[in-house]
Amino acid sequence: MGFAHEYAAAIMHRGRIPMEPVGFVPDWSDRPRKGKFYPGAESLPLPDGALPDPGATVQEGVFAASGPRDEPFTLPLLGGMLLDSYGRLGRRLGVQANTDLPSLPLYTDANWYRGTASGGGLYPVTVYWVNGPGGPLTPGVHHYSTTHHAMQRLLTGDVSGEVREALGNGTRADQFLVLGVKFWQNAFKYNSFCMHAVSMDVGAALQTWRIWARARGLRIEPALWFDEERLARLLGVDVAEEGIFAVVPLSWEGTRGDALAPAPAAGGPAPRVRRTESERSRRVITFETVRRVQAATVAHATDRPAPGALAPAVALPAREGGRVPLPEAPPLTMGVREALRRRRSSFGRFDAREPLSAGQLAATLAAAASASVGGDAADPGGPPLAKLYVFVNHVAGVAPGAYEYVADDHALRLVKPGPPGAFLQENYFLSNYNLEQAGAVVVPAVRTAAVLDAVGDRGLRLVNATVGAVAQTFYTTASALGLGGGVALGFDTVSFVEELDLAGSGEAPLLIMLVGHERPGSADFRYEIA
Ligand SMILES: Cc1cc2nc3c(=O)[nH]c(=O)nc-3n(C[C@H](O)[C@H](O)[C@H](O)COP(=O)(O)O)c2cc1C
Repeated sequence: MGFAHEYAAAIMHRGRIPMEPVGFVPDWSDRPRKGKFYPGAESLPLPDGALPDPGATVQEGVFAASGPRDEPFTLPLLGGMLLDSYGRLGRRLGVQANTDLPSLPLYTDANWYRGTASGGGLYPVTVYWVNGPGGPLTPGVHHYSTTHHAMQRLLTGDVSGEVREALGNGTRADQFLVLGVKFWQNAFKYNSFCMHAVSMDVGAALQTWRIWARARGLRIEPALWFDEERLARLLGVDVAEEGIFAVVPLSWEGTRGDALAPAPAAGGPAPRVRRTESERSRRVITFETVRRVQAATVAHATDRPAPGALAPAVALPAREGGRVPLPEAPPLTMGVREALRRRRSSFGRFDAREPLSAGQLAATLAAAASASVGGDAADPGGPPLAKLYVFVNHVAGVAPGAYEYVADDHALRLVKPGPPGAFLQENYFLSNYNLEQAGAVVVPAVRTAAVLDAVGDRGLRLVNATVGAVAQTFYTTASALGLGGGVALGFDTVSFVEELDLAGSGEAPLLIMLVGHERPGSADFRYEIA
């Protein structure tokens, strides 16, 4: 049994058995930047991609009602997708219940928001664009600078063959987005917990792209299994310090079909980015647990699961028991771009005076249940990895209690009757939410150990990316419905296993996701920059 099993179990029990280093205090004055900084790199500003597309609704992005399409990317589309997902869109200045509230008006502590949620607001995902000759720019490797909404050139020359060979799946693409995570960007705050949070962040970022792209007929199908060490070398990073989590091949305008015969990787010394990044922290700490779990997930990185390998680990069928049917979900007619710009965490602003309607709950559950990271981890049309449970606090026409969401029947199965508010609050570690005031609290659960048994330690990234994808879909849906949303990792997992009776099934509750109405008229200041 690999270290990923041990790590997942330690994460699950951390509310009762603290993980090392116990008592760790972050040095905030020496914190790293929220993105990589390559001094002197040539910048190419990206278009903002404000292409009018009335069909690009959240409904289409989440459910792809018009069927799978594979339209080509263009530079404006790539620019639009990156801006709406990870670019800086504005500054948070609203009054909320987080402890950072007093510092938000200080420019040095400004909190620039993005379309994608991120654990602790740290945005640790680095996006690289490896562009071959089929695209609009001179071939090379670029880094997406979120601060400038620009591509920064790190290497010149066609190295797309390196990526194709690292993928080893016969792709003919020559444009790739590569997602890296420099662990220190998160670990300076969360130490050993880092891997758990960042692998969800990767899923959240991928899912923003998937929703954004699907709404416009484009495809985002990431590979999670590939020669990670080869790509880390290409990008000039140490794989122990920066993991390469996903590779997304892009169909590009003008390079369809057999017109392009992709070149193999050139012989001779392996190409690599020589430009070095500047780290802001004077002292960078290596956490043994992060190092070990990263080593475990890299070890068999090229062992892509065979089709059907995940079958023993998918969500189990719903248990027997009375069902509460849910009404048809209202369509999510808001545009994806607008929904992402309106998306934000409620942080203490839930207000139960207006209950959630059953239709709103139905739409949120249906959307979240449809989320997956796709790509080489997917079994198209097969059962999902995650199952949703829901604690109903205040939903019109649905009695308070804990339920299992039965996606196939679009119904709820009662697990435990009675108001769950006290249980939820007692098992939440932070004080920034009154969970009882949310209309409902949804909990995605995955059979983590079964996934690791089925596909090996790298499956840990798949589990967490799936949960991140569910979370981002949840947020985007709440935003499209004009509701407040929030997700949190700070809860006692073991208590949730007991409350939902999951010990026998091996399902691990991995996140709590809150939805409901917010207090009307709470103070805010609009500060939009994109
Ligand atoms: C994987 C993940 C874990 C998170 N965990 C928590 C949490 O434990 N508590 C919390 O209040 N917010 C949590 N959040 C929400 C983030 O704090 C939030 O997305 C970030 O601060 C940016 O704020 P915004 O969502 O308003 O843009 C989490 C988000 C993600 C994606």
